[in-house]
Amino acid sequence: ERPMRLGIAGLGTVGASLARLLADKRDVYGMRAGRPLEVAAVSARDRTRDRGVDLSGATWFDDPVALARDGEIDVFVELVGGADGAAFESVKAALNRGLPVVTANKALLAHHGLQLARLAHKRGAPIFFEAAAAGGIPIIKTMREALRGNTVERVYGILNGTCNYMLTRMEREGIAFDACLADAQRLGYAEADPTFDIGGFDAAHKLALLTSLAFGCEIDLDAIFIEGISTVTNADIEAAAELGYRIKLLAVAQRTDSGIEQRVHPTMIPAHSALAQVDGVTNAVAVDTDLLGSVLLVGPGAGGNATASAVLSDVIDAAQGIRMPAFGLEPSKLAPYRRARMRAH
Ligand code: HSE
Repeated sequence: ERPMRLGIAGLGTVGASLARLLADKRDVYGMRAGRPLEVAAVSARDRTRDRGVDLSGATWFDDPVALARDGEIDVFVELVGGADGAAFESVKAALNRGLPVVTANKALLAHHGLQLARLAHKRGAPIFFEAAAAGGIPIIKTMREALRGNTVERVYGILNGTCNYMLTRMEREGIAFDACLADAQRLGYAEADPTFDIGGFDAAHKLALLTSLAFGCEIDLDAIFIEGISTVTNADIEAAAELGYRIKLLAVAQRTDSGIEQRVHPTMIPAHSALAQVDGVTNAVAVDTDLLGSVLLVGPGAGGNATASAVLSDVIDAAQGIRMPAFGLEPSKLAPYRRARMRAH
């Protein structure tokens, strides 16, 4: 059977895990995909770094855009990151050629998701992004596919592993903010620029995607109220604990009478609640719907293998020829975003 040839742009934490898994479990994934999956081409800034996998058989590119234009590849996997620049240009180049795209890039989609969904639709090329929200938790397919019979009232949860890891260690071990952040970076949880994590922007990017899926509307990142955790101190966490609360960075999107409300901010939540039990790099997403009531998904929100798990599911979808509108509906059918009048909180 003809292999599906992958072009992987970006060999950081997630890209390297993906390449290792594809090599180590070649037979398993080939069987599940219905044909062999072959890493035909890659791009990375550093060619010399040891990534624990032999990529000497792949064609190496410096530029993700050149990789996206490579005639040898059948699917383009974008793990470069960043809302603009090489990530945006390479994804557009791949879609323009009609290639399926798999991306973990929440910043890219939060900023340009609608434009890319329109391009994908026009070119008949799917764009998959299971890894873009809550790492390995299968929340995109859950919302886009499994919950399609429901009307969603609210989606909320813990969407940034770095912040949750830091808040947990600050509370449990009394370690200072900066030391916790340094550990999160060392463990490969944080974004290349950790301001995205601690400033709440990464959670906002993910929330923007979930909001579109939840309410069948266009993405509106600018409508999100965003406050990060950089002002949260060990003393705040202790004071909250004395009152029976824990502090979590929550992301919330809900339907209100005046429109949709989206917000990301540190929140005191009762210590006995399910979300308060979510510790470390773990993420959690709750979806409240009319038919199902409430569903809560909890799992690893960052890290190489956890995120590669979601990328692999998309790669296998692409190999099987699955065609699903990026945000569940054809882009022209997505409702305009209607912004709620925000209450003070
Ligand atoms: N920096 C992100 C986080 C990685 O900590 O959640 C996963 O998107």
